[in-house]
Amino acid sequence: MKSITRFVLSLASLPVALVMSSCETSTSTGYNPLDDFEQLSPATIFASPEPLPSASYSPEQLTRGRYMVGLLGCGSCHTDGALVGDPNPSRLLAGSGTGIAYSSPFVDANPGIVYPANLTPDMETGLGGWTMERLVTMIRIGTTEHSTSSLPVMPWPAYSSITYDDALSIAAYLKSLPPVVHRVPSNVRRGERANAPFVHFGVYQSR
Ligand code: HEC
Repeated sequence: MKSITRFVLSLASLPVALVMSSCETSTSTGYNPLDDFEQLSPATIFASPEPLPSASYSPEQLTRGRYMVGLLGCGSCHTDGALVGDPNPSRLLAGSGTGIAYSSPFVDANPGIVYPANLTPDMETGLGGWTMERLVTMIRIGTTEHSTSSLPVMPWPAYSSITYDDALSIAAYLKSLPPVVHRVPSNVRRGERANAPFVHFGVYQSR
């Protein structure tokens, strides 16, 4: 009987960056995410940035939102350098130029890659144009701006039990951050090549 070891990576318990790859290792045929990898050190923990004083949200709401964002590790994905290397202090929560491929090699030879978005309220490159409701829905149900369900890379299934008020506090805190102009690379659809680096999250099996 074949013995099988199965590793299930919990996306909800960060740090989770495990397998690093880059666009050069990706080929259009016979691509195996496990062919070329190196072990990464755990994502660095860093403080969530100070919000700007706000006329729209109470100080209690902002304090709660900042606490929740730190607790839930949003910055571990949504910050340049947090997945690989060192977090960029001028880009805290402003999105990641390193994407995440969510894959199960049993079913996805060539998975899609998503780039954690800029969560600061810049109008062009961040969440400046998002309503509070839209933000709350994204956090709790994982529905993107285009009303499609986000890959479970962003651990919204784990966040679904957040209370409405807590999700609202997170949204208020994000809306009160100093806006940072930073456009993250576009998501890469299944089967297409990435032009920016990415890491793999997923479920792996060794034989
Ligand atoms: C494990 C990594 C990870 C963590 C942790 C994470 N996210 Fe995300 N998030 C992503 C990725 C990847 C995307 C892009 C998903 C997509 O495009 O389908 C995303 C998308 C989003 C979006 C949608 C932005 C847009 O422009 O579409 C919001 C809002 C968001 N995340 C907020 C949060 C908040 C708030 C937290 C913490 C409570 C959080 N995320 C934690 C990876 C993560």
